[in-house]
Amino acid sequence: MIETSSFFDIQKTETSRISQVDFTKLDFGRVFSDHMFLMEFEDGAWQRGKIEPYGPFTMSPASMVFHYGQAIFEGMKAYKTGNGEVSLFRPGMNIARFNKSAHRMCMPEVPEDLFMEALAKLVDLDKDWVPSDAESSLYIRPFMIATDSYVGVRASEKYAFSIFMCPVGAYYKGNVRVKVERKYTRATPGGTGYAKAAGNYAGSLYPSKLAREEGYDQLLWTDAIHHEYIEESGTMNAMFVIDGVLVSPATSDTILEGVTRDSVIQLAQDLQIPVEIRRLSITELRSGLESGKVKEAFGVGTAATITPISEIGIDGINYPVAHADSANSIANTLLQELDGIRRGKREDHHGWNIPI
Ligand code: COI
Repeated sequence: MIETSSFFDIQKTETSRISQVDFTKLDFGRVFSDHMFLMEFEDGAWQRGKIEPYGPFTMSPASMVFHYGQAIFEGMKAYKTGNGEVSLFRPGMNIARFNKSAHRMCMPEVPEDLFMEALAKLVDLDKDWVPSDAESSLYIRPFMIATDSYVGVRASEKYAFSIFMCPVGAYYKGNVRVKVERKYTRATPGGTGYAKAAGNYAGSLYPSKLAREEGYDQLLWTDAIHHEYIEESGTMNAMFVIDGVLVSPATSDTILEGVTRDSVIQLAQDLQIPVEIRRLSITELRSGLESGKVKEAFGVGTAATITPISEIGIDGINYPVAHADSANSIANTLLQELDGIRRGKREDHHGWNIPI
């Protein structure tokens, strides 16, 4: 049966796959909920969209995304709140960032109200797929790709915008060991680092693989010019506790404006934890690790939430991070606060949860 909304149709699945899923053993990103949203852009406008059963698309081999890489995405999460309701966490920030990425990649923006309506309806339809166990949530992946069949280099004139969802467990199982990257770069000034563009992730794979071969889990990226100032850690924003101060690199055109980063900084300020948003050099990090002033290091991101860094490799020397496993760490305090808000267990003073 097909239902309609103001700008999309809804075709529900005839057979839900939910009974095949073991919600107590969720990996990250391998299981997909029953429905997805799909809407195409052509003739200069978004066409009528559709919520339909999750499944593959058919595409021309000449689709421009396969050749010139116009592809952007977002990551956001829905949680079960204590009273059984489902809430999205700060979806407006993800939608705004998606459109910022679209602008940078010469792609059409998706009107915010239309994006939000499609998202809310999709989550509502698949709300039984939102897990309730600690560390699990429904990860939502909106994305856009260039679909014009054309081999010349220019911006595509056709696009597909889609949203699908995965019930997920933790992205990282425990702490991570990171290597300071001094040779390869994730992003350059004037480049696309601030956009959630697929190509940024493609370029990070090879240096990450080299780091894994050396026994690390992830990289701590440094700036493209000096390879000295800390930028991001893997797919996360980076944070440190130095002399009791929460220090995080300022966002720029090479650093993604993380929603979790923004939330963690706000919560730290609410908890009267001193915060400094500034450049942080590897020289300062190394001497802080040697002297014991750097007590904590962690990555923050939607997928990873708050992931403690237990060891940092700088120019071949591995430095342990003192409080990576401490229950009283600032990282853990912030995690409890953030998680409590998202799951409806602590007061949401900032109105971040958007109930569906
Ligand atoms: C997210 O935190 O949503 C990310 O973008 C990480 C993802 C690449 C798994």
